[in-house]
Amino acid sequence: MPEGSGLFGLAAAAGAGLTVLVGASQASDVRGLSMPALPVSTAESDEAEHGLASAQYPWPHNGVFSSYDHASIRRGHMVYQQVCAACHSVSLLHYRDLVGVAYTEEEAKEMAADNEVVDGPDDTGEMFDRPAKLSDPLPRPYANEEGARYANGGAYPPDLSLITKARHDGQNYVFSLLLGYRDPPAGVSVREGLYYNPYFPGGAIAMPKMLADEGVEYDDGTPATESQMAKDVVTFLAWAAEPEHDERKLMGIKWIFVLSLVLIQAVYYKRLKFAPLKSSRVIVDAVN
Ligand code: HEC
Repeated sequence: MPEGSGLFGLAAAAGAGLTVLVGASQASDVRGLSMPALPVSTAESDEAEHGLASAQYPWPHNGVFSSYDHASIRRGHMVYQQVCAACHSVSLLHYRDLVGVAYTEEEAKEMAADNEVVDGPDDTGEMFDRPAKLSDPLPRPYANEEGARYANGGAYPPDLSLITKARHDGQNYVFSLLLGYRDPPAGVSVREGLYYNPYFPGGAIAMPKMLADEGVEYDDGTPATESQMAKDVVTFLAWAAEPEHDERKLMGIKWIFVLSLVLIQAVYYKRLKFAPLKSSRVIVDAVN
């Protein structure tokens, strides 16, 4: 993540009260941005350094009693597969993880069988290709980090398995990031190969805008708008990072129910045992 001073605030800086002077050496640290040293407000410099704070969205699974929207996980997997998988891996996911969550066993087997994986060695000591099975991980787009960087102009598309946990306010951040592409404000230039996105720390990201209306085909007839796809893929990534979420909440509810029965019983038992003690008076009658 680039360490830089904030420069996007420039346009708005004129009206800001508190201003600091950013030195030329700091300014040149900002990746992809060539800016002269000019006064910038501290609040806005923070915004550019850490990225614009994302809005808080009402995720359907946020409630105490709410589970994931599994139709959304399924659509999100389609978005991942048709768009993001070209550059990002989700190395912690296997085909079997999708069974019963977003796909039936047959669907997942069929999906796995579309990919070839290397297995072996066989009896003759040779490695061989075979169709993937439920126990295989989802395929990775690149063999290693070097290859991934080479194909992406030096930037590394991170593994997305845990991304919603690896970033501050992960779900809202990824959602905002995917929809946050816009033209740079006046006075800000972004180096070739980078794209302006105020939610990304530093403001210049090596990932192009990936979502566009009708970019994905959903099999349930949901209109594939840009924001719908962003919501679905974030739900999928949230599930990937926390697959135990539904089970955890269900267990929590069960435990709290059982423990409340235990509590009622404990209170009753305590009163039962204390009743004679509390309703009797002890009189010390000392004779002289
Ligand atoms: C053309 C390749 C490509 C595709 C397709 C792509 N990305 Fe990326 N993505 C990148 C690269 C490269 C980076 C690293 C950016 C950087 O460090 O400047 C990245 C970074 C990210 C990040 C991390 C940002 C951060 O805070 O570090 C997220 C989250 C992400 N991508 C999500 C997605 C999602 C979701 C999709 C599918 C909708 C997707 N990407 C599709 C290339 C891609």
